[in-house]
Amino acid sequence: MHSPFTGKKIVMGITGSIAAFKVAGWVSTLAKDGADVAVVMTDSACKFIAPLTFAALSGNPVPGNMFSAEQAHSISHIQLGQEAALVCIAPATANTIAKLSCGLADDLLTTTVLAATCPVMIVPAMNSQMFANPLTRQNLQRLADTGIIIVDPATGTMACKSEGPGRLPEWESVSEQMLAVLSERDLQGEKFLITAGPTREHLDPARFLSNRSSGKMGYALARSAVRRGADVVLVSGPVNLPTPFGVQQIDVQTAEEMHTAVMEQSKEATVIVKAAAVSDFRPLEQAAEKVKKEHASFELKLEQTVDILQQLGMKKNDHGYLLVGFAAESENLREAGSRKLKNKHLDLIAINDISRKNTGFESDTNQVTLLDHSGFTELPLVSKDETADLILDRIVELLHNRTTANA
Ligand SMILES: Cc1cc2nc3c(=O)[nH]c(=O)nc-3n(C[C@H](O)[C@H](O)[C@H](O)COP(=O)(O)O)c2cc1C
Repeated sequence: MHSPFTGKKIVMGITGSIAAFKVAGWVSTLAKDGADVAVVMTDSACKFIAPLTFAALSGNPVPGNMFSAEQAHSISHIQLGQEAALVCIAPATANTIAKLSCGLADDLLTTTVLAATCPVMIVPAMNSQMFANPLTRQNLQRLADTGIIIVDPATGTMACKSEGPGRLPEWESVSEQMLAVLSERDLQGEKFLITAGPTREHLDPARFLSNRSSGKMGYALARSAVRRGADVVLVSGPVNLPTPFGVQQIDVQTAEEMHTAVMEQSKEATVIVKAAAVSDFRPLEQAAEKVKKEHASFELKLEQTVDILQQLGMKKNDHGYLLVGFAAESENLREAGSRKLKNKHLDLIAINDISRKNTGFESDTNQVTLLDHSGFTELPLVSKDETADLILDRIVELLHNRTTANA
């Protein structure tokens, strides 16, 4: 399956930290995702983990001493940083950070960074006292001032048993920051409001009505929009997914709460994508206490919830946002989508066939049909991450058409 890392040439610099072994997993993931990973290790790093491990995981040789005649022949000290799309040093020791902040270049890794023509990212990992030391802080600031991207370390208990910031962060947050560097920033300046997940309409404190939405599609859209430079607010129903890196998340339960949050946030938005599966109905009455089995009625009276999309469509012209909806349909997809586009005043609709196993609810893949005022586009059956990028590509085109029409 295609990943945003596929085909990207990445130099991973490993230095002498106890956390070096964790990056073996990162290199393995990058290589599986189709990245061309070149690992450069400091002499100290080789005391913590063998170069053979990284060579096997990356599928590329790990260059040794830059002064050896053999080395000068195969990979030069400047070549790596000039061919790569990104140089990432993880874990980065206080020592290597200090050397780089002075412009020292006494090994293959520091020389590669000085000669690099691509973005450079540093992921510090060290004891929290070392990280808090004013000299380390100043060194990191100097590097940041030259445009080097510094990833904040995580906070927690370290191998040396100290507590505080300095831990190597989790791959999920580092990979998102790498992708933000590698992606085209074609949504810079846009303010996205995205909704995701189901809502829960309570019958009593223990029971609710809901639906099968997993939130995966809305979360994929939020992740991708951040990578592409947008500011993103995600209004999410209850799901089992971590907040995407760089996203401001507002958690809600009911359709009513989602309505309140969305209407408030819509004032700032330039693009609104409604990927949530909001309940159309809710129980007419909610019991304050759990309904006992022997007192239960077998009739459930329902009322309609507020139609958030409809309200956003009506306010669209006042606020000027681009409005994108989703339609989850099991039959007559195109007709249903066309009706919704028109009735709800949408600019774009993604129509989902929920009757198939590998599309729609809960699935990791999706196959949607896009419809805007220029007609239908069938997207391929791909991962929800790829579907998100294809939907965002279309949104970029619509934003561009709008700018040129207004010019
Ligand atoms: C067991 C052990 C663990 C270490 N862990 C770290 C660490 O996590 N971060 C750090 O900055 N230095 C750490 N050091 C110190 C570095 O290995 C040392 O400063 C070394 O000179 C770094 O060299 P390099 O920057 O060229 O890789 C550790 C040293 C030892 C012996």
